[in-house]
Amino acid sequence: DKARYVDFPITAAKHDIWEIERRNLIIHTDKKLGSGAFGAVYLGRLIGKSLAHKDANSPLGINLMRAENCEVAVKMLPEFTDDMSKSEFLREIGLMKTLGYHERLVNMLACITDSEPLCLVVEYCSDGDLLQYLRNRCKYMMKLDEAGVNYHDPPVENNYDPSMIITIKQLLQYAVQISYGLEFLSQKGFVHRDVAARNVLVHEGKSCKIGDFGLCRYIYGSSSQYKSKGGRLPLKWMSPEAIRNYEFSSKSDVWSFGILLFEIITLGGSPYPGMHPEDVLPFLEAKGRIEQPDNCPDNFYEIMLECWHSDPDERIEFSEIRHKLASQLEEIT
Ligand code: ADE
Repeated sequence: DKARYVDFPITAAKHDIWEIERRNLIIHTDKKLGSGAFGAVYLGRLIGKSLAHKDANSPLGINLMRAENCEVAVKMLPEFTDDMSKSEFLREIGLMKTLGYHERLVNMLACITDSEPLCLVVEYCSDGDLLQYLRNRCKYMMKLDEAGVNYHDPPVENNYDPSMIITIKQLLQYAVQISYGLEFLSQKGFVHRDVAARNVLVHEGKSCKIGDFGLCRYIYGSSSQYKSKGGRLPLKWMSPEAIRNYEFSSKSDVWSFGILLFEIITLGGSPYPGMHPEDVLPFLEAKGRIEQPDNCPDNFYEIMLECWHSDPDERIEFSEIRHKLASQLEEIT
């Protein structure tokens, strides 16, 4: 009878390659990097431990890499949280284990789940999120403009900071990098559901990585669509079918990526400014779309429009987006 099988010793859990001992992780609780839906992210340091990476590209599926004594970001769930948050956090950790390593993702490095507080250790990105990064540079460049300084031919005197100047080439590089990461995610059957500049992290000014997999779902086995029950969803980044029916797919991630392109080209501009989030769907259904921003090249705006096809099947795919952006980048280099 069935009850017999329940006695099978399932408690002898295999050693988890991701699990580390708490003494191998220093968490700088005075250096908060951000705060998520639950818990906060802190700067941390991993000490004396070799870490395992699950790597889809390696023949064994696992790529051992030594990450000793390096800076990391630690997402920590406070102790004594409700069971819902706890299981949601464990689900996110489980999902990240199955993602596989990609240079355009904020990769998982380790976790602590056998005791509380639960910790998810990921790669540290030195320049924080892309939205704030772009907005800081936008403010700086506008100030230079006001002071009558031409930043294309900058003065060497004063306390002029060249690292605050951002070029169209750099912006295109960011867009290519992010599309690369999203192409990888979609190929592996994942929908991110929260593609936006606030969820992209910047490392050393030149490398963008996709982060925050809190809303990410595996959909490959389930008719390539995920039906959510609502909750905290960013309407201005969502496709019409996602707003209308909570239908999420790689196609709705493509739509959100179009909004992200807008954020990039406007150096952190807000989509549909002045519009109430609830008015976005009627606007889109009346064939309304965000207009071409002033400094936005025509071919860049064309990709944005291709991300915003009402019909998900008509929408451009990430691989094509990446190819188009990469050739635009080649044209200016
Ligand atoms: N904020 C949230 N996650 C981060 C990370 N991995 N690196 C830097 N800042 C972050």
